[in-house]
Order: sequence, then C-alpha cells, then structure tokens
Amino acid sequence: MKTEGGSDAAKRRAGERAAEEVADGFVVGLGTGSTTAHAIRALGRAVDDGLEIRGVPTSFQSRQLALEVGIELTDLDAVDGLDLAIDGADQVVDDPDAAAHGALIKGGGAAHAREKFVDAAADRFVVVVDPSKLTDRLERSVPVAVLPDAHTVVADRIRDLDGEPTLRDAGEKDGPVVTDSGNLILDCAFGSIDDPDELATRLSRIPGVVEHGLFVDMADATYVGTDDGVAVRR
Ligand code: 5RP
Repeated sequence: MKTEGGSDAAKRRAGERAAEEVADGFVVGLGTGSTTAHAIRALGRAVDDGLEIRGVPTSFQSRQLALEVGIELTDLDAVDGLDLAIDGADQVVDDPDAAAHGALIKGGGAAHAREKFVDAAADRFVVVVDPSKLTDRLERSVPVAVLPDAHTVVADRIRDLDGEPTLRDAGEKDGPVVTDSGNLILDCAFGSIDDPDELATRLSRIPGVVEHGLFVDMADATYVGTDDGVAVRR
C-alpha cells in the first residue's frame, strides 16, 4: 500500500523501530499520523505481551487508536514527565552541516499544538518518517493554529512576513478544519525557509496565534524507514 508522500512499509519500519525503545514503566507521548500509528500498534502488541506503559495522546485519533490497542492512557498533569515521545513530521531538515539540521514542519494532521507541548515534555523525542520527508531546507507550508476570531488579523500579519496564508478547508460542505482544541488552521507558504528559528520566533509573537508547526531544536533523533531497514539520524 502507498500512502501520500511515502510507502507504508517504510513508515511501518520507522514506527516499529521507535516502539522498540519503549521500556517497562515508561510514560510515552503518542504522536499523530500514519507513521506514528504503526508505533502505537506495535506498542499495543507489546502491551499484550506484558509491557506496562502509559501513553499521553496528542490528538483524538491517537487517543482512539491507543484505546483500541489496549494502551493505558494518562495526562501530562498526572505524571512527572514523559520518558519518550514518538511523533511523525511533514518535513525534516537532513543536513548535518546546516544550523537547521533536525528542524521539522508538523501539523499536517492539525494536531501540532498538542504535539508540541507533549513532545517537548519528553526526556527523549524521536521523529518517525519515510524518506520522502527529508529535505535540505524546509519549504512546505507551515500550519499555524489560530483562535477562530483572529484568523483574518493573523492572516494579515503572516502576509507582513511575506507568507501566503490559506485557511485549511475540510471540503465544500464541511467548512474550515477545526482542531481538537477548537482552533482554525492557516497553512502559510513562505517558500524556502532560510532561518526556521527566526520564523518560529516571529510567528509565536503574533497575537491570536495558538501554535505554529515549526519544531526547531526539539528532536533528539529521526528514524527514517527505508525499503529494507531504518536509518537513524541525529
Ligand atoms: C500531525 C502531524 C503528523 O505527524 C505529520 O503530518 C506526519 O503524518 P504522517 O506520518 O501520516 O505522514 O504533524 O499534526
């Protein structure tokens, strides 16, 4: 089976490899998306075999899947912290010589606000991707979650930053995409992003922005599923 942007077999290898890092007693951040879903299913199988863990989901989807496969759930305010977070990405800078090496764009599933604080709370944050996500420079649109009433003023500020915002639409009949927390998503095209850290700071300063999908200096490792194995990038 092929999924958008990469093969499902590669995604599965990356997800399953990350799940192998989970040890007994771990509290695990459960990311969102098709690659992380493989990790969650692998963890479910390990739980069936006796592994004792608790998961903190990053979205309704990851919560539902975790419940389905038998992972006990908890919340950030009920634990001291997370041992590991496993999450996908839409783009990853893979250039050890670049200052932005390891920077991510996330939010293809509109879950990046919750993903960011869950991933940031973990002692170790592992990104799981297929090779189609690797890039020299971030250039996909950056998802920006905004308070619904603020979407037009935030869009104006994005244009001031030379970005082109598009309100994410769920389809003609369904209207705009609404996140699990009730926010809207502006997908903001900036072309090739020279300095993700600087853009992240500028986006965070805009009143009405809840969270943007630039994850800079957060990931500890990226597991890249390939046709025949997993490459680990740090
Ligand atoms: C959701 C995300 C996902 O992790 C990202 O879109 C990657 O998804 P997939 O593994 O399905 O390609 O950021 O908000």
